[in-house]
Amino acid sequence: MVFKKTYKFAFVSALLLSFLSCFILYGLNAYFNITLPFKYILFFFTAFFLTSLLIIQNRVQQFIYKKVQKIYDDVSLLDVSDVDKKSITSDMDTLSKKVNEFAEGKRLEIETLKVREAYRREFLGNISHELKTPLFTIQGYILTLLEGAAKDKELRTKYLKRADIGVERLIYIIKDLDMIAKLESGNLNLKSEVIDIVSLIKDSFELLEIKAKKNNITLTFDKNYDIPILVKGDKERLEQVLINLIINSIKYGISGGMTTVSIALFSDSQVVINIQDNGEGINEIHIPRLFERFYRVERSRSREQGGSGLGLAIVKHIIESHKQQVFVKSTLGKGATFSFTLEKVI
Ligand SMILES: Nc1ncnc2c1ncn2[C@@H]1O[C@H](COP(=O)(O)OP(=O)(O)O)[C@@H](O)[C@H]1O
Ligand SMILES: [Mg+2]
Repeated sequence: MVFKKTYKFAFVSALLLSFLSCFILYGLNAYFNITLPFKYILFFFTAFFLTSLLIIQNRVQQFIYKKVQKIYDDVSLLDVSDVDKKSITSDMDTLSKKVNEFAEGKRLEIETLKVREAYRREFLGNISHELKTPLFTIQGYILTLLEGAAKDKELRTKYLKRADIGVERLIYIIKDLDMIAKLESGNLNLKSEVIDIVSLIKDSFELLEIKAKKNNITLTFDKNYDIPILVKGDKERLEQVLINLIINSIKYGISGGMTTVSIALFSDSQVVINIQDNGEGINEIHIPRLFERFYRVERSRSREQGGSGLGLAIVKHIIESHKQQVFVKSTLGKGATFSFTLEKVI
C-alpha cells in the first residue's frame, strides 16, 4: 500500500509517540514497582497509536489546507471553493502547476501591456508629428501675411488659400483620428443594411470624379454590372472603405492611368470587391505593415498627396468589424490591387 505523504508523516509520528509513551509507561511501572500484563501494554500502545494517528493526520491536513488556501487567496487564481478539502493534502502538484500557470499568465499580461504601451507612445509621437507639419505651414503663411504680405492683394489671396489647404489637412487628419478612435473603442454601432454594391461603387466614382480628373486617372468597372448585387453591411462605412481605396488608387496611380473595380463571387456566401490600379505599386517588404496606423511607404509623397496615413487602417477596421477580410496584391512599378469581401444577400 502506498501511503500518501501526509499519511506517512502522521503514521511515523504516531508510531514514534506511541513508542515513547510506552517507554515512559514502562519506566513508571518499574518505578512504582507494578507489573502490567503485556496485553495491557499492547492495548495501550494500539489505542495511543490510533488516536495520535488520527489527531496528527487531521491537524496536518488542517494546517496545510489553511496554508494552501492562503496561497490560493493570495494569487486569487481560483475560487477557494474550487479547492477540494479532501484532495488538497496530496494535491501539491496541482497547486504548484496552478501557481506556475498563474505566473505565466501574469508574464504574458505584462508583455502585452508593454507592447501596448510602446504602441501608445509611438502613436502619440506620430499624431503630434502629423499635426505639426500642417500647423507649421499655416503658421508660416500667417506670419508672412502679418509681416506685410497682406498688403499685396494677390499675395494675400495666394497665402490665405495655402493656409486654408493646411487647415483642411488638419481637419481630415482629425476626422480620421476620430474615426480610428471610434473603431478602436468599439463604439461603431455598425448597421446591417441591404446594399446594392454596384450603385455604391458608382456613387463613390461620382464623388471622386474631380479628384481623378485632376490626376488624369480614369475610374471604371471591369465590365457592365447591369443588375444590382446585394450585400449586407453598413452603407456609410462601406462607402468610406471604397472612397479610401479609390483615393489611394488615384493618389498612387500614374497620370493617364486607370482604376478598375470588379465584383466577383468569393464563396457561397461572399462576394469580393477588387480595386485595381496600374500605378506605382508597393514593394513586397512594405505589404505586411501597410494596414498599420500611420504606416506609409513614402512619407513625403503621401503627404504631398494629402494623406493622413490612416486610410488603410480605417479600411481594415471597418472590414474586420463586418467580420470580412481585406487583401492586397502588388507588383512594384506595375500597380496594386486591394480587395475586400462582403456578405452576399442571397
Ligand atoms: N493603390 C496604392 N498603390 C501604391 N501604394 C499604395 C496604394 N494604396 C496605399 N499605398 C501605400 O500605402 C500607404 C498607406 O496608405 P493609407 O493608409 O491610405 O495612408 P495615406 O494614403 O494617407 O498615406 C500609402 O502611404 C502608400 O504608400
Ligand atoms: Mg490613403
